[in-house]
Amino acid sequence: MIVEYRPIGVVRSPFSEPEGTPIQPSRADGARGTVELDEEYAGCLSDLEGFSHIILLCHLHRSGGWRPTVVPYLDDVPRGLFATRAPSRPNPIGLSIVRLVAIEGATLTVEGVDLLDGTPVLDIKPYVGEFDSLEEVRCGWLDEVRSRRRLADDRFSR
Ligand SMILES: C[S@@+](CC[C@H](N)C(=O)[O-])C[C@H]1O[C@@H](n2cnc3c(N)ncnc32)[C@H](O)[C@@H]1O
Repeated sequence: MIVEYRPIGVVRSPFSEPEGTPIQPSRADGARGTVELDEEYAGCLSDLEGFSHIILLCHLHRSGGWRPTVVPYLDDVPRGLFATRAPSRPNPIGLSIVRLVAIEGATLTVEGVDLLDGTPVLDIKPYVGEFDSLEEVRCGWLDEVRSRRRLADDRFSR
């Protein structure tokens, strides 16, 4: 089965190349961008202004081919792809939780952007602590690494 989606809009961000782009919203120092939705979706934004954060589901359109294991940005040994948030995946879908700053018409201003300028947006969902924040979690290999890397290098775009 082939699944086809049509983007609902596009991310505008200060980042034009993977190298130097924040590796996650939590390490983006509040980098600001916008989500420019197609006008037909403006009506879908009512009631969203009450949420401080939103989940952006995006197509990471500049991803390269995927491999079963990758050396993630936060480690220096190979890890199983699905145990990482590497952008190069069989289906290169990105999940970014960003702060919602403002909504004007069909444009959302957001902070904490880790996405390249021009990234197609597939969906937006409100971030809800009760649903999305769990208290007792294990984070596998990430529990053992202490890397404070904030910005991507070119390992997934070489
Ligand atoms: C590690 S991914 C994480 C994305 C999302 N927060 C997630 O966890 O799914 C973020 C990195 O992907 C790269 N990236 C961002 N937008 C991209 C795009 N549209 N296509 C390919 N790579 C992208 C940048 O190098 C950025 O630092």
